[in-house]
Amino acid sequence: MTPNSDRSYKMKLRDVENAFKYRRIPYPKRSVELIALLAISCTFFLFMHTSKLNSRLKEMEVKLQPSEFSALGLTGNHISGHDAGKPDDINTLHGTYQYLKSTGQAADMLNNTKRAEVDFIFFNRVPKVGSQSLMELMRRLGKINGFVHARNPGSVKESIMMRQEALKDLIADLLTRQKPHVYSQHIAYVNFTRFHMPRPIYINLVRDPIERIISWHYYIRARWYYNDMNAKLGPKSVKMPPDEFLNLDLDTCVRNKDPYCTFEQMQMNNPVGDHRRQTLFFCGMNKKLCMPFNSKMAMQKAKRTVESDYAVVGTWEDTNITLTVLEHYIPRYFRNAKVAYYLGKENLSRINRNNVTRIVSDETRQILRTNLTNEIEFYEFCKQRLYLQYAALSQGRSFGEDDYLLMPQLHGQADGDEAEY
Ligand SMILES: *[C@@H]1O[C@H](CO)[C@@H](O)[C@H](O)[C@H]1NC(C)=O
Ligand SMILES: *[C@@H]1O[C@H](CO)[C@@H](O)[C@H](O)[C@H]1NC(C)=O
Ligand SMILES: *[C@@H]1O[C@H](CO)[C@@H](O)[C@H](O)[C@H]1NC(C)=O
Ligand SMILES: *[C@@H]1O[C@H](CO)[C@@H](O)[C@H](O)[C@H]1NC(C)=O
Ligand SMILES: *[C@@H]1O[C@H](CO)[C@@H](O)[C@H](O)[C@H]1NC(C)=O
Ligand SMILES: *[C@@H]1O[C@H](CO)[C@@H](O)[C@H](O)[C@H]1NC(C)=O
Repeated sequence: MTPNSDRSYKMKLRDVENAFKYRRIPYPKRSVELIALLAISCTFFLFMHTSKLNSRLKEMEVKLQPSEFSALGLTGNHISGHDAGKPDDINTLHGTYQYLKSTGQAADMLNNTKRAEVDFIFFNRVPKVGSQSLMELMRRLGKINGFVHARNPGSVKESIMMRQEALKDLIADLLTRQKPHVYSQHIAYVNFTRFHMPRPIYINLVRDPIERIISWHYYIRARWYYNDMNAKLGPKSVKMPPDEFLNLDLDTCVRNKDPYCTFEQMQMNNPVGDHRRQTLFFCGMNKKLCMPFNSKMAMQKAKRTVESDYAVVGTWEDTNITLTVLEHYIPRYFRNAKVAYYLGKENLSRINRNNVTRIVSDETRQILRTNLTNEIEFYEFCKQRLYLQYAALSQGRSFGEDDYLLMPQLHGQADGDEAEY
């Protein structure tokens, strides 16, 4: 603006002011028109504001849709290893973090605890993710926070899928127990709503799918595992397998295409009875949808269930973040979780830890990764959601850039224990 036009602009403004000052009295009819005009513009402004809020909410919803996570590059597109796609991930995470900070509702939108209809936690624990450590933590917290923890006693063969009738009995049993309580079992996601029953608070843990496979491989080849089982379930409940089986290392097993170490795509049955499908525990009891190994559909269903139903899906690879998120999103049960965990850390992280593992070559890991793409994508999704829940906690507090730097990177170093459970 030139000084000239600036002046004339000011003069015009003064004219308008004067017009209002001096002409109000002589033109009373005008003031009525003015009020009408004001009312209309207020309505219009409110309308604009509402639709802006609406579109912001829509945007937020879209941002939190499972498929959109992948589209944003937040989950599993860089599945090829710990070195892949790092800068992009940081930028995207940073962007998401900034976005969450700018909106006031992130923690609330990521909070499924408030959607629970009954005061009990259902922990349908995935095998080989360190669930025994979480159960021990909950046993301790029960004493502090006032709840009871019960687990399915376990058997030689765990049934992850259950028939309708058995499922109904289980649900009925769980709902008549003393409240508040936690129940833990190796079982696929159970949809209480489908049985017209009130929805519990769902929690779970996940772990890098390749690490789970390595862990399981050596777990069922450890002599102490069979001795322990027989001590627990009665002598000779399980037979000690031959040395040939116990001594088979994973590299050789994969190289020789042993049935135990072959991961056929979309395979329906489970010839070796392992727990290769982490997604199954979130996908649910629909065999046709959830059983095909490494299926994209099962993975997407699992993501949606986590989004809609799970209060927290944590991982011991990010111990402190998991404990903090549990503390804040399910305070009724997990208040003081961090303190309780570190008070007894020596024992907590060592529960059921397998001391008989061996080194696995990068080549073997790479071969496994190629056949576990959707399993890996689901796992990355769960971690990303956990990080978002953590980031969302910063709102309201002053949580600056420095704190952001404490955020883990998607493929960065985990803060947890050496994964050996
Ligand atoms: C989540 O909801 C639960 C239950 O309403 C509440 O106790 C908790 O404070 C909420 N947490 C966050 C981070 O919003
Ligand atoms: C649970 O069942 C209800 C009722 O059938 C359905 O609306 C809902 O989508 C299901 N939830 C999941 C996560 O499958
Ligand atoms: C990977 O999947 C393909 C296709 O199902 C199968 O032929 C191959 O044997 C699998 N490889 C491993 C190591 O499981
Ligand atoms: C946990 O460890 C402490 C010391 O390391 C020991 O005194 C305590 O007995 C252990 N508790 C259990 C349940 O093993
Ligand atoms: C490994 O752990 C089991 C069970 O905790 C124990 O009985 C066994 O002695 C341990 N073996 C070694 C070599 O440390
Ligand atoms: C996790 O929290 C504990 C206790 O607050 C702390 O001592 C430890 O350094 C933390 N670990 C990381 C990696 O931040």
